[in-house]
Amino acid sequence: MARHLITSAIPYINGIKHLGNLVGSMLPADLYARYLRGRGHEVLFLCATDEHGTPAELAAAKAGKPVAEYCAEMWAVQKDLGDRFGLSFDHFGRSSSPQNHALTQHFAGRLYDAGLIREVTEHQMYSPADNRFLPDRYIEGTCPNCGFEEARGDQCDNCGKLLDPTDLIDPHSTISGSTDLELRETKHLSLRQSAMRERLDAWIDSQTGWPVLTTSIAKKWLHDGDGLQDRGITRDLDWGVPVKRGGEDWPGMEDKVFYVWFDAPIEYIACAREWVDAGKGDDWERWWRTDKGAGDVRYTQFMGKDNVPFHTLSFPVTIMGSGEPWKLVDYIKSFNYLNYDGGQFSTSRGRGVFMDQALEILPADYWRWWLLAHVPESSDSEFTWELFQSTVNKDLADVLGNFVSRVTKFCRSKFGEAVPDSHDRYGNLETAYLLQVQTRLRAYEAHMDAIEIRKAAGELRALWVLGNEYLQEAAPWASFKEAPETAAMQVRFALNLVRLYAIVSAPFLPETSATLHSALGTAGGAWPEDAESALSALTSGHPFTVPENLFAKIGDEDREGWEQRFAGTRG
Ligand code: MF3
Ligand code: ZN
Repeated sequence: MARHLITSAIPYINGIKHLGNLVGSMLPADLYARYLRGRGHEVLFLCATDEHGTPAELAAAKAGKPVAEYCAEMWAVQKDLGDRFGLSFDHFGRSSSPQNHALTQHFAGRLYDAGLIREVTEHQMYSPADNRFLPDRYIEGTCPNCGFEEARGDQCDNCGKLLDPTDLIDPHSTISGSTDLELRETKHLSLRQSAMRERLDAWIDSQTGWPVLTTSIAKKWLHDGDGLQDRGITRDLDWGVPVKRGGEDWPGMEDKVFYVWFDAPIEYIACAREWVDAGKGDDWERWWRTDKGAGDVRYTQFMGKDNVPFHTLSFPVTIMGSGEPWKLVDYIKSFNYLNYDGGQFSTSRGRGVFMDQALEILPADYWRWWLLAHVPESSDSEFTWELFQSTVNKDLADVLGNFVSRVTKFCRSKFGEAVPDSHDRYGNLETAYLLQVQTRLRAYEAHMDAIEIRKAAGELRALWVLGNEYLQEAAPWASFKEAPETAAMQVRFALNLVRLYAIVSAPFLPETSATLHSALGTAGGAWPEDAESALSALTSGHPFTVPENLFAKIGDEDREGWEQRFAGTRG
């Protein structure tokens, strides 16, 4: 038994997440957390909302609400949707928590003392009409790189180039529209990432077995052109973590807050403290401080590829630069993008299927299965309604659902709702299947241990297929006529397979697993380390009920209706 700390990239607060967001970090992280718990490990699985920065302020303004109120409401909405998707966070925190304020200010103080934060004087766009400096998205103009006319102050959405507001051509304030902007002098803090370049390089080189996607992005940022530049970590906003060092005021920084990407990853740590303060745990340092027991924790992070530079470079600068014994990440699992029907999912344009809409249509497990089986692991992948329909119908309805239905209904009609009495022991056929189950199970575990999700899904599906093949070969309906004792033994074997599926499918399909366990009256059940004993767990006389309609097939009219409904953008 080991101890595993697992974090998912924390979703932005502004709006309900789409399925691309879900499959890009939270869902695979949940899969892994559930699997490790199932194997008997001690797991702390954390996530939170990412609440600071201009997107949050702008979304609140659009909703006509004070930003604190908007964030509190959206946190509750996201928490509820996460629960309904079965995301089994031990705590779902908030980057705006007092715990994160304190820790962020603590890290800033340590980094300053270590000479890794410099005060820099900058010339920044000031809008007299708005009576404020205009950071990031509060300023728009024409991109100097591609000519796009609505480029934001921090990045061009058209060509992706990272920008500084002063780069923009014909800039204007997005608050008042004013073009009367002037450069004024102001003080900011800069994190000296470049000073840590060699240490980061050596650290990344020392990591064995990281996914290629993770290391290639990290290396690119370390060595290519723009490389690891020093980065401004303060902004002129009201909403955020006030700039202080430790608990002390920071002269000249009174109206500033930390940049959202500085405080967001620190929330991974603060979240553990929130977990304790919420009464759900009693020692957060045991997970985060190597001097307080976290030395034997294995820490795995999940995220989309756009997040990799922040997790391989910026956040490690914060951690290492503090000079304190904080736990560093051991393994970074990153993902490509999921596209939607020939284009991209888009929050700002409301394109694609969003978490709330998905659950209006079908239960979480249908989505979990499709998304995880098609997770954009080695390249981008695409959601289409046709693919969704065929995957659900084949894997869930025809394979898993059909097997469970056949065996439980056959037993009910011939023997009643209990594992039938039989003195017959398992024969050659059962032994042969047992060995196949054992082999597939070990392969499934190996893929799950390596977080090779598509391969794991493939092995799980293959395990379900074995059940149908067994029924076909054993044909208990035929043996029932001449040798009812044999048919009874065969049904016992098949019912035990149902129980095994309930356990090993739980990381992918938690609701289905619970339904199966309740039908079988087998609360939980230990992981089948050994297939032979696992397939003898249910003995003659053990009662069960038939689970009705485990999965409904998706009909063509349904699919067409959804295709239409989601063809446009969200209203
Ligand atoms: N909110 C960011 C995104 O959705 C992820 C932040 S992850 C953390 O891309 F490291 F900052 F916590
Ligand atoms: Zn551009």
